[in-house]
Amino acid sequence: MGKFSGFYRLSPEERLRLVKQERSLTGDETKVLTDSGALEMGKADRAIENVIGAVHLPLGIATNFVINGKETLVPMAVEEPSVVAAASRAAKQTLPDGFKAEADESIMIGQVQITGIEDINTSLKNLEVNKKEVLNKASEYMKHVEQYGCGARDFGAKAVQTDRGAMIIVNFHINVGNAQGANMVNTTLEGVSPILEQLTEGKAKLRIVSNLASERKAKASAVWKKELVGKAAIEGVLDAHEFAKRDIYRCSTHNKGIMNGIDAVAVATGNDWRSVEAGAHTFAAMGRYQPLTHYYKNENGDLVGEIELPLAVATVGPAISSSPTAGTSLKIMDVGSSQELAMVMASVGLANNFAALSALGTVGIQKGHMKLHARNIAAYAGARTNQEIDRVAEILTEEKNFNVERAKEVLERVREE
Ligand code: MEV
Repeated sequence: MGKFSGFYRLSPEERLRLVKQERSLTGDETKVLTDSGALEMGKADRAIENVIGAVHLPLGIATNFVINGKETLVPMAVEEPSVVAAASRAAKQTLPDGFKAEADESIMIGQVQITGIEDINTSLKNLEVNKKEVLNKASEYMKHVEQYGCGARDFGAKAVQTDRGAMIIVNFHINVGNAQGANMVNTTLEGVSPILEQLTEGKAKLRIVSNLASERKAKASAVWKKELVGKAAIEGVLDAHEFAKRDIYRCSTHNKGIMNGIDAVAVATGNDWRSVEAGAHTFAAMGRYQPLTHYYKNENGDLVGEIELPLAVATVGPAISSSPTAGTSLKIMDVGSSQELAMVMASVGLANNFAALSALGTVGIQKGHMKLHARNIAAYAGARTNQEIDRVAEILTEEKNFNVERAKEVLERVREE
């Protein structure tokens, strides 16, 4: 961890050199991070349709994360300033203990909708009595991944009364190992549907994974000591947390700040961040829409923060292998399973939330934001060296004027000086 203190002060090249050294990255593994053409047209064209190019995002490393005692470098791909810095700062304030995290087994829920059933009760009974046969049939579609611990574990069926008549919904629990699992689940559901139709004498309609991965959650917690963060920050976080608990408008933004960090890791590791988002917000809304984090003071007056949310993320699979950078990100993070990855993501979400609430509850976030904004404006106005960018940004901040035209004038003055 010591090697990474002051990481933010290094140039991008120096940072990359350090990470390369620390994680024994190969030349090719680092090249994909800096080579803007790393995603070849051919590969992109195979990934989606009607391809005309690729877009790029900055990739940063959040430092200071110690998760279950392990020092972890966290790659984050995000366009928003401050997210990486906020995560790193909040993580630093948890040291030396860091984060404690855990994750469920990789159980996804897959749903089959059965319509046109004459006798709902008999159908439900038939499904229950023939459970073993149904699960054996489902497992046939997962033989090739059985060696990775994957398989259909269980299912539950329920009757639902709808405006279009009664239906049966069958929810399968399927272990998908280190994959995200959507494809595996959907294939299994389509495969098992004929036997469900026979047993219910109905018609299987939707056969699809649920993004509410409520059986695949990750948790993380950390303690922010009052000596380190100050009492004002702790009170600020607690007040902010209460606000989010009581007000859905605030709660939306509270959870957005959490997802800033989680999505950035999802994108960096080639994961489906839309499914992560869907799962997180639906989970938050089970009951009444609530914050994904919780805070309280322990007996010493220190702040304990906790997070729990579904995280259906993968360390293997087609999306990961078609992303040129995901492999390198996973190697930098040094995670060996989707559970480990989920634990890192939960810790980062908690860190970003603590950072946002402790700033909002005390000095506000605009000062930090505007500092970065001013640097961007300076660069946009033509400032080239770090020295020029810093000086122009400093003057714009003093003047509280972030106009590009003004930045150009200031740059000229700085150059004359
Ligand atoms: C901005 O992207 C995220 C925050 O608005 C989160 C929050 O308000 O808690 C700062």
